[in-house]
Amino acid sequence: MAELNIPRAHSNSWYDHLASIQSGYYYPWNSSIGDKNGEEAFLALLREHLSPESDALEVGCGHGELALDHADLCRHILAYDRVQSYIDLANEDKTKRQVTNVDFLCYDAMDSGHDEMELPLEDNSVDLIFCRRGPLHWIEDAVRVCRDGSFILALSPMEEPIPAWTSKLPHKLHYENSGRHTGTGSIHQSVENRLHQAGLTLHSGWSFDVPEIVSDPVELYRMVTWGQSEVPTFEDLKYKFDSIYDKYAEAEGIVLRHCRFLWQAQVRK
Ligand SMILES: C[S@@+](CC[C@H](N)C(=O)[O-])C[C@H]1O[C@@H](n2cnc3c(N)ncnc32)[C@H](O)[C@@H]1O
Repeated sequence: MAELNIPRAHSNSWYDHLASIQSGYYYPWNSSIGDKNGEEAFLALLREHLSPESDALEVGCGHGELALDHADLCRHILAYDRVQSYIDLANEDKTKRQVTNVDFLCYDAMDSGHDEMELPLEDNSVDLIFCRRGPLHWIEDAVRVCRDGSFILALSPMEEPIPAWTSKLPHKLHYENSGRHTGTGSIHQSVENRLHQAGLTLHSGWSFDVPEIVSDPVELYRMVTWGQSEVPTFEDLKYKFDSIYDKYAEAEGIVLRHCRFLWQAQVRK
């Protein structure tokens, strides 16, 4: 049987393709996510850590809204992402919003051109590193760039169950191939391992697992096809989505798990 060529969701080639089909990083489907899902708790912690004297680094900033929204709470933010078009959008927004203390950089700390993973900062130059739903590679170099007492803070996608209905769809559209799927390995373990390898320990971690309800089959189609190329149309697959809703939907629609791990560590030198 011919191999299916499906770029791994959230791989570099997946992001490059996504950036060519939608402007900026966002979920294109409509759904309703339960309260206390981790997003607000992350923002509250971020606000707590920022102060008028603090300098911060944001990793995997996408099109920059988080850094721009929090610029007035700190002295400076350097925010980087490896996708040039996201950085271009971030800079356009920065100009529109007349923000002067945020710098956006197109940078890939994992670039094979670097001998070692290296954050784009001098030693002892920031008080906070934050990352929302981004990669974890940067932990390795966090101690070098952080000042004594700094925090590193992240909201990481957490492992979740794969829904039973996924096998009703063509293989390419299986839930585990979609960008919505956050993985099956333990994120807690993965964060702890990386922290230990960098000489750090977890300060605090909180798990969030709430329902996400998709009430319309078209929105579920948007979700499982997100970031993919050459997919069948919704009309082609409508009968499959209708039968998934007939068999698996609860009163308000298909219920997925929205899972996040919010964590922070402190750098002591
Ligand atoms: C899931 S998106 C989150 C974007 C943004 N933080 C947000 O909350 O909307 C992850 C981002 O990390 C970026 N990214 C992934 N690996 C990276 C790397 N090695 N260096 C820089 N950015 C990276 C991607 O390009 C993408 O914009």
